[in-house]
Amino acid sequence: MRPRSSGTMLLAAIALCLAGCDGTVDVPHLTLAKSFSRALQDCMEYLQVPGYRYAEYAGNSFPDDPETKCLLRCVGLNLRWWNDTTGVQAAVIEGFFHPDPVDEQYDNRTSECLRNELTHGDTSDCCCLAYESFRCYLKNYGNLVPCAQFFPEDESRYVRAAQDCIEFLQTPVKLLKSYSAGHFPDAPETRCLLRCFFLRTGVFYVDTGFDVERLYTRDYEHPDDRYLSRETEAKLHKLRGSMGDQCTEVYLAYRDVLGHLGKAYFEYDVLKAAAQQVLCEVPIELPATTTTASTTTTSTTTACPSKAEFNYKELNCQNCGRMFISPKGRISCCRCMKSSTPFGKFFF
Ligand SMILES: *[C@@H]1O[C@H](CO)[C@@H](O)[C@H](O)[C@H]1NC(C)=O
Ligand SMILES: *[C@@H]1O[C@H](CO)[C@@H](O)[C@H](O)[C@H]1NC(C)=O
Repeated sequence: MRPRSSGTMLLAAIALCLAGCDGTVDVPHLTLAKSFSRALQDCMEYLQVPGYRYAEYAGNSFPDDPETKCLLRCVGLNLRWWNDTTGVQAAVIEGFFHPDPVDEQYDNRTSECLRNELTHGDTSDCCCLAYESFRCYLKNYGNLVPCAQFFPEDESRYVRAAQDCIEFLQTPVKLLKSYSAGHFPDAPETRCLLRCFFLRTGVFYVDTGFDVERLYTRDYEHPDDRYLSRETEAKLHKLRGSMGDQCTEVYLAYRDVLGHLGKAYFEYDVLKAAAQQVLCEVPIELPATTTTASTTTTSTTTACPSKAEFNYKELNCQNCGRMFISPKGRISCCRCMKSSTPFGKFFF
């Protein structure tokens, strides 16, 4: 094999192994999962690091050069274990390493290493800090896990997931108004909306219930070991299947066991923001038009009508996105045809 092509071929072989068939991964719900090597390849493409370098990286050799350092910062941002302001996010990066089961010191050694490197290194260089943090984990914590690992979404994707669930379940407008004001009445729709949100964001499975390790990672900004405690496990286990109705099971687990852990009642904040979006109470910022010659900014416009002239019928069709003329000449919209909610009167 000619040395010139070996790097590229290795990359291709690894990509095949990871993705199977045609390289398209069939992702359930909106969950984000990625392997370290996939994130590394992404970043090699973004930063135009030559493909032949992959061979040394794949052999766990990350030499001390500027290109490699910024590559690892990119990987950290990509997988959300690095933040230039707050540094390494332990609850996320831990998932990408597998400690030796008999090693009792890996956590302490890693903390020690981070303390040393981050006080002695150049603290103004983010690439350097991200690189040294990664090396502390690589040298002290464990082996790199080859599989794709769950990693946290950013805030806007959580709101998007909640909005999707509101749409899927056709949550009544009356409830959305409550949510948007920060009230979460205990109603069947609220219970099922929470269940949908946990499912869509990949922290709950229909068959096995909550994934507390993912919840722990998700709330990496407030790492909370109680997610992983025996007590939490026992409480969730007790609720499991005891209700008959899974929406209720999820709701009780949230209310009594999980809600106050990590980012406390994070879901309610997300649902509040999502409800406000759906009700158009939050101005939607439109991208600036490219035709404007002057740079003076005029008043910000909103894409939504003011509340007084709020037209649910129109909104429903806008959301639907596909208005069409029916054979009878009436403008209609696919989703508006079937209206089974108590709020059907707002629609066609
Ligand atoms: C980094 O952390 C700060 C402070 O928590 C936050 O405001 C910022 O959005 C984070 N940046 C990224 C890229 O996540
Ligand atoms: C880790 O360090 C802490 C404090 O330095 C110590 O109390 C603890 O026993 C150490 N853990 C192990 C497993 O040695």
